[in-house]
Amino acid sequence: MSDILIHTESGVRTITLSRHDKKNALTSSMYGELAQALRDAELSPDVRVLVLQGSETVFCAGNDIYDFTQNPPNSEDATVFQFIEALVVFPKPIVAGVCGPAVGIGTTLLLHCDLVYAADNAVFSMPFVNLGICPEAASSILVPNVMGYQRAAQALLLGEPFMAEAALEVGLVNQILPPTELKAFVQRQAAKVAAKPKRSVLETKKLLKGHHIPALLERVREEAKLLVQLLKEPAAKEALKAFEEKRKPQFEGL
Ligand code: COA
Repeated sequence: MSDILIHTESGVRTITLSRHDKKNALTSSMYGELAQALRDAELSPDVRVLVLQGSETVFCAGNDIYDFTQNPPNSEDATVFQFIEALVVFPKPIVAGVCGPAVGIGTTLLLHCDLVYAADNAVFSMPFVNLGICPEAASSILVPNVMGYQRAAQALLLGEPFMAEAALEVGLVNQILPPTELKAFVQRQAAKVAAKPKRSVLETKKLLKGHHIPALLERVREEAKLLVQLLKEPAAKEALKAFEEKRKPQFEGL
């Protein structure tokens, strides 16, 4: 069975990350499937709104760490960057529902969603520095834009997790709900948007975000180039090895 489930009902296409045993960590093949799913949803006239969700206990543990070692992105055309670019340019509204951990790209992808709802068990983190790598998905532009510089620096230079309440306060999420109610609520919100006049919704999203897209794509590519390089350097090698060996990384001298 695929690690990504796709379901469409009344104009709402729902993409569910479903790799429970690995906390919905994303592999390069999953990114490829997600990029394709976004392109399909963009082109399908039956789809008016997209929903992105995980399970009731985990949204996404970020990039699969083993994949970073065994199958690292080695150019800006890697599937991870195809997914990110498809997300940046996606023209229809995206509603996200986040329960449990949202790590790395699990948090940064939310910056490209239009409505983000979190359960009270949601925990967000962007621990790129802890892995010897750098921000992606244009988060180096969008995190300071959303949170303000100091809070962005705290999230990205320390890489520490923050809870749903803090995410609400900084404007990363719209509302907090109990985990058992989140999925149904997200579907109701998506259905509300899907019932609005199609052209008006598309033009509104375009007016809200369209003018930022060229700068975001440029930053996505800049970050991608750097990430490909940093993954080859000793700090990332040590961090990934430490994760596999279930120990703290030793960055002394790096
Ligand atoms: N890549 C690969 N495997 C991962 C993973 C990842 N990003 N995140 C979790 N897993 C695996 C664990 O290795 C473990 O596998 P195992 O059962 O074969 O040992 C399994 O998923 C369960 O993870 P575990 O850490 O026991 O779950 P938890 O509920 O205690 O913690 C997280 C969940 C997400 C907080 C924690 O797994 C984590 O911090 N993961 C790493 C996140 C990360 O750094 N991602 C990269 C960001 S760029």
